[in-house]
Amino acid sequence: MDIRENLSRIGEELEKELHDLDALQALENLKVRVLGKKGSLTALLRGMGQLSPEERPKAGQLINEAREKMTRLLEDKQKELAEREKEARLKKEAIDVTEPRDLPLIGCVHPMNLVLNQVLDCFTSMGFDVAEGPEVELDHYNFELLNIPKNHPARDAQDTFYIDDNTVLRTHTSPVQARTMLSRKPPIRIVCPGRVFRADEVDATHSPVFHQIEGLVIDKDVTMGDLKGTLDAFAKRLYGPDIEVRFRPSFFPFTEPSAEVDLTCFNCHGKGCRVCKGTGWIEVLGCGMVNPKVLSMCGIDPDVYSGFAFGIGLERITMLRYGIQDMRLLYEGDLRFLRQFR
Ligand code: PHE
Repeated sequence: MDIRENLSRIGEELEKELHDLDALQALENLKVRVLGKKGSLTALLRGMGQLSPEERPKAGQLINEAREKMTRLLEDKQKELAEREKEARLKKEAIDVTEPRDLPLIGCVHPMNLVLNQVLDCFTSMGFDVAEGPEVELDHYNFELLNIPKNHPARDAQDTFYIDDNTVLRTHTSPVQARTMLSRKPPIRIVCPGRVFRADEVDATHSPVFHQIEGLVIDKDVTMGDLKGTLDAFAKRLYGPDIEVRFRPSFFPFTEPSAEVDLTCFNCHGKGCRVCKGTGWIEVLGCGMVNPKVLSMCGIDPDVYSGFAFGIGLERITMLRYGIQDMRLLYEGDLRFLRQFR
């Protein structure tokens, strides 16, 4: 019977094509070609009209069975292909979170900021506040309230950049002492980091722009012992318990008595070398008991209150901390230098 032959031909072709098929769209096309309105199987159904009434039921049964089988085959293939395509997509979209990649270039904290942060941590943990003041400063705060009147020889020690007769680039952070005493009531405990300016040469240990951290404590019964203890704690916190601290008598118009403080040289550890000019010590700060004259000029009664002040050179203590022998490295922004502090 020719319907049988046709059916098995269509069935074989379908199975062969299904076997080679690997995309859902192609499957859809095949389905249309066989089962669609103009499909080969549909054509067979239509052809049934030419059969005799006796042949028709049998033929119809055969065609329907074939149709069901083909539909099942197509559906199975469809499931298989859909599964395969999903797997391929998941594979393609998968992200290996462990794969190493190029990190974007991120900066690092400058060594002076590293040290500054440590210094501020140290003093704030002792109860100090952080204060700030202007870089362009009035002569009044930079000098006069600090007991350095006009034409006083102490002005020569700080080669000043003048903006006009009454305005300077601050030569130290000490004007913040005066500003703080005028604006706050004791007890006062502040540290003030900032940029300062002096008409200096540029060399391995000097720059016309550098940084200081001012400290000021005013209260009843503050003594030189408190000053020494505070600075000793500071030195040990930054450099460890083995660092030695040396106080040398000195002079500043705004402190009395005054001292300069040295720490053991980072390079030779006290033996004496080029860095410390053979002394074994490196000067890092000036300090003293606030001059009673400064207290009264700033509105604090020296009969009731006393206090101490210090001015730390940030470049110096940074160089000491990391064994940096040339201050200019701190300003040049050379990445080979800076990256060492990552
Ligand atoms: N201002 C002084 C200087 O720049 C340092 C200092 C600060 C000294 C506070 C005593 C007290 O040299």
